Amino acid sequence: MKRIVQGDNLKVLPTLPRGFARLIYIDPPFNTGREQSRDRMQVKASATGERTGFGGRRYDVERVNSPSYDDAFDDFEGFLMSRIEAALPCLTSDGSLFVHLDYREVHYAKVALDRLLGRECFRNEIIWAYDFGGRPKRRWPAKHDTILWYVVDPKQYVFQFDEMDRIPYMAPGLVGKEKAARGKTPTDVWWHTIVPTNGKEKTGYPTQKPLGVLERIVKVHSEAGDVVLDFFAGSGTSGEAAARNDRGFVLIDDHPDAIATMQRRLARWDPEVETSAVG
Ligand SMILES: C[S@@+](CC[C@H](N)C(=O)[O-])C[C@H]1O[C@@H](n2cnc3c(N)ncnc32)[C@H](O)[C@@H]1O
Repeated sequence: MKRIVQGDNLKVLPTLPRGFARLIYIDPPFNTGREQSRDRMQVKASATGERTGFGGRRYDVERVNSPSYDDAFDDFEGFLMSRIEAALPCLTSDGSLFVHLDYREVHYAKVALDRLLGRECFRNEIIWAYDFGGRPKRRWPAKHDTILWYVVDPKQYVFQFDEMDRIPYMAPGLVGKEKAARGKTPTDVWWHTIVPTNGKEKTGYPTQKPLGVLERIVKVHSEAGDVVLDFFAGSGTSGEAAARNDRGFVLIDDHPDAIATMQRRLARWDPEVETSAVG
């Protein structure tokens, strides 16, 4: 299965088959409070809203037809959790969910995910640490994102230890030549550069995540032939990570620039990728 779907993920997700994805990775808008240049769907908490989301709360969804918008949500938890809830039926019974956020929202999302899935289904809080951009002088520069890993079933899930890439020892002189040459397996703190500004990987799509981070997740948490679902797909990094490693993908985004970027990016790996639209 290799598909790109344009539409609001809240509408697209219920149209997808049940149990097709071994891995879901999402990197939603971070609620940065900054202006982004694009149209979007706006979800607002409303006692009389047409949709029911996490915890029985009700929402209204409307398209905001402005060329720019603030990445600021009245109810980010409602926006995110209603979509995660809609995506859960897509996972296999041994599937994993990865939710990529930053310090602004991760703590609220962790509590909400524990409530939705059960604390026993939480496996790891992965810190992706990078070092790029300005350094404020009145607080510690925030240079990491957080990726929460949950499983459907804590007794049965995919963790391919031998598929991990290896990283250099910090003090190779202390471990002997052979071990130093082999490198060590990573911990839950992943040092990885952002997508290099002039590198081959760069698509030009804002907030593109590095392929190295996504390939690590895809290789360890799925097997060849599996399908990866990303319903905030952006430039399609998770799709490229999947395609490079013989996995299928379903990539959803509501923005035409994201769809065009993904089509260009993934045609290199499979000229037959199917694109459709919902809504
Ligand atoms: C942080 S970006 C994802 C970046 C991606 N991980 C990458 O490496 O390029 C978030 C994406 O979510 C999309 N998005 C936001 N709200 C959406 C919605 N309701 N339905 C579908 N896509 C949405 C945005 O258009 C944006 O492309």
